Amino acid sequence: MNELVNKFDHIRQEAVAALSEARDQAAVEALKVHYLGRKGVIPGLFREMGGLPPQQRPQVGQTANQCKNQVQAAVDEALARVTSGGGGGGDAAAELDVTMPGRRRRIGLKHPVSQVMDDAIDIFRRMGFVAADGPDLETEYHNFDALNTPADHPSRDVQDTFYLPDGRLLRTQTSPVQVRVMENRPPPLRIVCPGRCYRRDTPDATHAMNFHQIEGLYVDRHVSLADLKATMTLFAHELLGPRVRVRFRPHFFPFTEPSLEYDFSCIMCGGDGCRICKNSGWLEISGAGMVDPAVFHAVGYDSEQWTGYAFGMGVERIAMIRYAIGDIRLLYENDMRFLRQFN
Ligand code: DAH
Repeated sequence: MNELVNKFDHIRQEAVAALSEARDQAAVEALKVHYLGRKGVIPGLFREMGGLPPQQRPQVGQTANQCKNQVQAAVDEALARVTSGGGGGGDAAAELDVTMPGRRRRIGLKHPVSQVMDDAIDIFRRMGFVAADGPDLETEYHNFDALNTPADHPSRDVQDTFYLPDGRLLRTQTSPVQVRVMENRPPPLRIVCPGRCYRRDTPDATHAMNFHQIEGLYVDRHVSLADLKATMTLFAHELLGPRVRVRFRPHFFPFTEPSLEYDFSCIMCGGDGCRICKNSGWLEISGAGMVDPAVFHAVGYDSEQWTGYAFGMGVERIAMIRYAIGDIRLLYENDMRFLRQFN
């Protein structure tokens, strides 16, 4: 008789322990069938009771019923736990799987436009330029008048410039920072001004209403066009590699005389001609020139004593060349699958 009581006790402990460790519903169901099913372990023990002398049956029967009830309760509890979705109610310690891999947190990275801007500023800093800053909301005077831009110049048109009701505007270029710096500091100076610019352009693959420029200004005695060419060539080599060639073309800007535009040889095809450079072998980077005496007069610099060069380059343009991006709009869609590539 004791032997059967012991068996019931043993099975009860074994079943309760197994059920408390069951991870999912299938495991619980399997244990239920194993212990309580029609051909299961516990009904089997009940059948063994049939062989006992009648006077012993009540006592063993009590243990047997306790065993069955407790295992049934353990089944119910285990089922509730595995079907509760793992959160809240269950036994947190039992659910914790220490072998599970951790969740990786992504580290933020610099936007390609910021990367180019930071790298460019770093290169100019090594050449002795310091960074300067100006407001996005500008006066017409700083954005146009002081830069020798005639009143009827097409760039002033409301079709090209965002004007505020009070007459101020969203700067169309970073050149007004030149004016602000010269108004406040005596020559000589050497500055770069990175910043956001705004134009009423219709967005397409190469135009955005909102883009970035890096402006440069160098004022000293006896500054020449040769200095500008040397600086720009060194900049190209530092930013894009020593094989890049630089080409200067005559151009016109109101605030420089002479004015020029400069191109880098296409880094995709090495200058042979491809889709990116539209088969010309060259990529247009920036405008530049020798500061017009009229600009020096506007800020009170003596143009007989001081000379200077200035340049203004499009940051998105350079980013698109550097990373072979075919459409400027991709830079501003904030699609992480796109941005993650530029690490
Ligand atoms: N501000 C001009 C533009 O937006 C670029 C530029 C040309 C800047 C010549 C300069 C410069 O400083 O000297 O197209």
